[in-house]
Amino acid sequence: MAKVLYIEASPRKERSASIEVANNFLNAYRAAHPDDTVETLDLWATDLPRFDQSTLDAKYAILHGQPHTPGQKAAWEAVERIAAQFNSADKYVFSLPMWNFGVPYILKHYIDVLLQPGLTFSFTPEEGYKGLVTGKPEVVIYAQGGQYPKGTPWENYDLQSKYLELVLGFIGFTDVKSVYVNGTLNGADGKDKAVAAGTAEAVALAQSF
Ligand SMILES: Cc1cc2nc3c(=O)[nH]c(=O)nc-3n(C[C@H](O)[C@H](O)[C@H](O)COP(=O)(O)O)c2cc1C
Repeated sequence: MAKVLYIEASPRKERSASIEVANNFLNAYRAAHPDDTVETLDLWATDLPRFDQSTLDAKYAILHGQPHTPGQKAAWEAVERIAAQFNSADKYVFSLPMWNFGVPYILKHYIDVLLQPGLTFSFTPEEGYKGLVTGKPEVVIYAQGGQYPKGTPWENYDLQSKYLELVLGFIGFTDVKSVYVNGTLNGADGKDKAVAAGTAEAVALAQSF
């Protein structure tokens, strides 16, 4: 019995293209894998710890091999809870809109909390950086108002997928499949067409995920 963690980054809920495709993916996944569980992490409904001075001091204390003060310990425990939830999954699904060519700030906040030495990656002078989240598959559903096809000059504007792929690779993911729900702002039926195409791709992936 596998646990899927679904991380949702659009605040638009029933109007969201990325969430609609993710829900279609997850429904197909549940039908194909009835014994598995799906846990949803709606980033907009989650009280993410602030990445403030105490948290940063706690992070640097670890990097410098120093013990935590009581304040740093409390701050770090909130970070550890987020990482523990993340690490407890066997498979991952992310859905996110493109915002200003990148990811929504709530997802950046989550990533800033999640990417920690000893929790999702390690560093040693001998081995350098090593991702600790290994051997787990991931599907990422990207919604984009425009289109940024690979091999065109527009590709360079897609910092959304470039950034997330880099982050996921950094913490250890090697099996990441991407679904683009793009052109959602291309005319009156842009969103419907994008959701239909994205859903067809996502549902096909759900069978073997
Ligand atoms: C704040 C904001 C910034 C956006 N920036 C971009 C952008 O840089 N490029 C783009 O193609 N679409 C952009 N869009 C459009 C969204 O990516 C598009 O509407 C997408 O379908 C939203 O996904 P969602 O419906 O799942 O929230 C932006 C939308 C918002 C709200």
